[in-house]
This record gives sequence, structure tokens and C-alpha cells, in this order.
Amino acid sequence: MTQPLLKIENLQTYFYARSKHSFVRAVDGVSLEVGQRETVGVVGESGSGKSITAMSIMGLIGAGPGVISGSIHFAGTRVRQNLLDGLDKYVRITEKNNRVMAVSKDESGWQKHSEKLMKNLRGKEIAMIFQNPRASLNPYITVGEQITEAVRLHTENKSVKEARERAIYWLEQVKIDSPRLRFNAYPSDMSGGMCQRAMIAMALSSEPALLIADEPTTGLDATIQSKIVGLLEELKYETGISTLLISHDISVISRLADRVAVMYGGAVVEYGPAKSVLGMGQPTKHPYTAALLASVPSEQKIRDKANLQTIEGDVLDTINVPAGCRFYARCNRVTPEIREKCATLHPGLKEVSPGHQMRCWLHCS
Ligand SMILES: Nc1ncnc2c1ncn2[C@@H]1O[C@H](COP(=O)(O)OP(=O)(O)OP(=O)(O)O)[C@@H](O)[C@H]1O
Ligand code: SF4
Ligand SMILES: [Mg+2]
Repeated sequence: MTQPLLKIENLQTYFYARSKHSFVRAVDGVSLEVGQRETVGVVGESGSGKSITAMSIMGLIGAGPGVISGSIHFAGTRVRQNLLDGLDKYVRITEKNNRVMAVSKDESGWQKHSEKLMKNLRGKEIAMIFQNPRASLNPYITVGEQITEAVRLHTENKSVKEARERAIYWLEQVKIDSPRLRFNAYPSDMSGGMCQRAMIAMALSSEPALLIADEPTTGLDATIQSKIVGLLEELKYETGISTLLISHDISVISRLADRVAVMYGGAVVEYGPAKSVLGMGQPTKHPYTAALLASVPSEQKIRDKANLQTIEGDVLDTINVPAGCRFYARCNRVTPEIREKCATLHPGLKEVSPGHQMRCWLHCS
């Protein structure tokens, strides 16, 4: 089997919440892989740790008391390294009874080392697109010049003429109409959907090995959302770029992802081929995934005016992580036989079919 492009092992990213004198376990033991030419979707409710997983990969957890441990192996053609290599020297975490009691951190040492690790990677080998593309673009520079700059910085096309032609090529690739005209437009001259296309063009223009797309369609009108998903779908087949796609929208994930990780309370609760994890006809489902799927407005449900199910209860406060299953307080599938286990023992990720893992006592004894 070929080596995955990205292999995250036991990633833990914690923040100190000063007002509560406690630590938020934003990401708590996440392991996942993105293979060459593969799109891996990460789905979960708000606060489940999706963006912090992405920020951890990008080396953007520098500020204040944010700390990371675990490993993130990146195996691109030009760079191969653990993106967290040596960071543990700058931080000490003390845990007791499943609670983080203290974190001491050499802030400036961490920051310098992290920047060194990411120097030739961020924006070059690993590019990222976000929600709210307009805010990510520089309002004072034309879109074309911003892409040209990225091309000159990150690729072999160093002359302005070459880089401009390459920028126009990428504007064509993201299906911006009249790319030569749009080259000279400022972000304020463009719609939200067009700004997102420009952001995608800019991300791809550095010819990265990995694209991280964090809620790339959130905040756009429904019709524009669908067009951006369509564009990402075309680019996936045309460029074959490996992608980590984050969204709380299951329909976006199911259109694009080859494999899916479902996150809840900072942990992956289900992980496997998209068809097995999100396929409606699949009998083995994690109760949380089943609840997420039940909340998706299908065309049939809209036609039948059927009530959409919402998931009862609040998302987990990861300051007080329970000893048992993290979803226990909201789970409607607990049976008398497993109640004790659900309440007291944290289930491990177990394989329920080839390549399909689940963290639930219902499916793994
Ligand atoms: N700088 C920070 N300090 C303290 N807690 C933080 C910090 N950044 C994020 N968190 C907490 O980490 C948890 C995970 O946040 P994250 O942004 O990854 O969620 P998400 O799954 O991306 O949610 P959404 O769908 O709303 O974007 C949340 O509980 C959030 O409040
Ligand atoms: S382990 Fe128990 S509480 Fe957790 S999801 Fe499975 S059935 Fe529900
Ligand atoms: Mg997020």
C-alpha cells in the first residue's frame, strides 16, 4: 500500500480557558489519514473540533496557551516530515483523572520552532481555503495580482509574465467567466461565490500536495453553494489533488468525500469509506452519525413535510469530558445491556467492516 500523504496520529490540541480555570480538549486523540488523490471529509456539529484539527495541521495553534501533541506525518514529493516534530520540548502537560491539571509552555520557543517546521509547507505544500473568502483576500490588491504573487512565491514560474499567464490559467480552471477581465478586479467588485472561486484558484496556484477546505460553501447562497461544490467535484477529478474537506453539511461531504471521519466532542467516533459511513442503506451506524443523517433535509422529507429530527441536548463541553462515551448524554440507542459500559467506559475505535471503524459499545464489545 502506498504511504498516505497525511497521517495524523493521536492529535491532541488543548486550550486553557482562563475564565473557567480549565482546559478545553478541542481535539482529543484524533487519528486519520489522507491518501494520494483522496478526499477525506470531516463532519460534525459546531464545536466538535473540525477547524482546530485543520489549524493544527497548518501550524496555526501558536497563540497563548494552545498546545498540541501527537504526530502529523506529511509525505509530499518535496517535503517529508512530522509537522509537530520537536514541539513537545516546549510544553509540559500534567493530567490527573482524565483532566488536564496544568500546562507550562515556552511560548516564544514554540512559536519559532513551529514557524521553522511550516516554513516551506504552509501555502505551498499545504494550502487552505476558508469560509468567508472575501475576508481572506486582500481588498487593496486585484485578484489577478494576488494569484500572480502566490505563483511567483511558490512555483518555478518566477517571471511576472509567466506568473500572470499561470494566474489566468487558474482563473480559467475555477470557471471564472472572462478570466482576463476578472484578473484586474478587486475583491469588492466580485460576488461571494466568485471570491470563493478566486480563493480556490489562489490555493491551487501554488500547486500544493494537500488542500484543506474548511467550510468552503458555508455562508454562500444555496445555489452558489451547489455551484462551488460542483466546481470542487470537477477539480477533484481534473487535478486529483488530495483534500481534507471540513463541513458541518453532510450533503457537501457525501458529494465529495471518498472517506469520512465523523467528529464529536473532539474525537472521531466513526471513520471509513463514505458509502459505508453515510450510505442510507447501511445497517451499521454510529448513533451520532445516524442522528446527523436524520437531521439532513432530504427531498422526500421536504415533499412529505416530515419533521426533521434535531439531535436533543447540547454538544459536549470538552472541559468536562465524561469517563464513558462522549455521546452518552444525548444517545437514544443505549440498551439496558450496555448502559453501564456506555456510562463509565470510553469506547475505543474498533473495525466493524474492512476499513470502517466505530467508537460505540453497541457495535463493538
Ligand atoms: N483559542 C481557543 N481557546 C479556547 N477554546 C477554543 C479556542 N479555539 C477553539 N476553541 C474551542 O475548541 C472547540 C472546537 O472548535 P472548532 O473551531 O474546531 O469547532 P468546529 O467543529 O470547527 O465548529 P464549527 O462548525 O462551528 O466551525 C470549541 O469548543 C471551541 O470553543
Ligand atoms: S457507546 Fe453507548 S452511548 Fe455511546 S454512542 Fe454507542 S450506544 Fe450510544
Ligand atoms: Mg469550524
